[in-house]
Amino acid sequence: MIEPIVSQYSQKLKDLGIEHTLVEHPPIVEVFDCMRYLGLPISEGFSTLVMKADDRYVAIIRRDDCQLKLVEACKIIGCKKLTLASPDEFEKITHLPSGAANVLTGLPTYLDNGLFEKEYLMGGSGSLSITIRYKSKDLKKIPSSQVVDIAIVKAKPRILTGDTPSGKLHLGHYVGTLENRVKLQHEYDTFILLANVHAYANDFTQSEAINNSAYEVFLDNLAVGIDPQVSTIYLESGIPETLELYSYFLTMVSHSRAVRNPSVKDEIKYKKLDPTLGFICYPILQAADILGFNADLVPVGEDQLPVIEQTTEIARSFNKAYGDTFKIPKGLVGRVARLVGTDGQTKMSKSGHNAILLSDDEATLRQKIQSCYTDPKRVHATDPGTVEGNPVFDYHHAFNPNIEEVKDLEDRYRQGTVGDKEVKEKLFAALNTFLAPIREKRKFYEDRPELAKSILIDGTARARKVVKETLDLVKSKTQMNKLIEL
Ligand code: TRP
Repeated sequence: MIEPIVSQYSQKLKDLGIEHTLVEHPPIVEVFDCMRYLGLPISEGFSTLVMKADDRYVAIIRRDDCQLKLVEACKIIGCKKLTLASPDEFEKITHLPSGAANVLTGLPTYLDNGLFEKEYLMGGSGSLSITIRYKSKDLKKIPSSQVVDIAIVKAKPRILTGDTPSGKLHLGHYVGTLENRVKLQHEYDTFILLANVHAYANDFTQSEAINNSAYEVFLDNLAVGIDPQVSTIYLESGIPETLELYSYFLTMVSHSRAVRNPSVKDEIKYKKLDPTLGFICYPILQAADILGFNADLVPVGEDQLPVIEQTTEIARSFNKAYGDTFKIPKGLVGRVARLVGTDGQTKMSKSGHNAILLSDDEATLRQKIQSCYTDPKRVHATDPGTVEGNPVFDYHHAFNPNIEEVKDLEDRYRQGTVGDKEVKEKLFAALNTFLAPIREKRKFYEDRPELAKSILIDGTARARKVVKETLDLVKSKTQMNKLIEL
């Protein structure tokens, strides 16, 4: 439903010759959430900022990935003080609810020239449930507007994430974390580690297997769409500075806190380990991985959230003792937190022998789906079956984009009018379509080992510079080497 206020506004835009289209969505206040909902990067949106310049009001329009250059803005506008109007002031001036700005404020309007680097941009309509796609150059037709250089592109926030190499990655990794990495890599400065030092904490005798696994995980990341031109993939052991940071962090965590970490406890129980010290302390090494980059966001599987929690504790204790140094990172879990394995019993995992790999070929995929657990109580296709907890349906939900087909299969399964065979055949088709481009990209890099290696070497060098800076900062804050410095 297009509200009258939006149709009137749209008419005004038309009268001014400003080309645009309306896009409806659930009411969203945060620009960031809205753009994510629309599947667009933040750099393709803009905001109209109503601002108080000394004792008058102006509007500034800038892209959402840009921030105002305050000193220069004051010069351009000719004021001493420039602040965002309060929600009350905003409503009084625009007659719109707070947060629902549009470009026709009637105020003197400053357009940042960064707007015109994009052909189309999304911006406000005066309603929280409609966003407008504007032809950027038409914004110059806004009355009393002028183009100025008033904003710069903000440094992107950072992602640090990765995997402990223990074999090839599977569908559970995809929905748990890989998908988020791929989606967010343009919006975040993204670093992905191959956590080979972590793998040594499981069994230090397995160096060859660790190297092989790390390479497979590397290929899997590239295969699902991590773009090495955009993101950085690196080998953990290639950054000795991380291990130096780790040794300081070890002094900050009590023994009782370390053994209480639920991720550590669960894994010890599940794998029946006699854990090494390295294993018990792996969350502290992980904290060094993350804080070494001062990461903002850490996409991980659900089981890793307690590790992120411990990382934030370390960051906070350091900041408390030595002043603001580390950002407090947030964990981000994917759209399916826990994907069940093909045995229908436990979550999908390499060690559980119940995984469908991202690199499985067609024949293997077919065989795994054929032998996949379904509803054990259902003997004939005419028996009503259970969809809940049935891995075949969980996979349909997670990977079959044809929602109607899934719904139809589900209905018929419950009624007993579809056989497992058809449900599985359709799942095979959907998964095979999903995996085909992934296999193809994997093959591209498999066939070019020199290229793959150079990506990893370059990535490790780039990542090392960042961690080195952080370590230098930590050492200067603690004055670690005071006694031997000249
Ligand atoms: N422990 C993580 C896992 O097993 C892998 C990992 C190591 C990691 N360092 C990290 C993940 C830093 C995120 C951030 O999956």
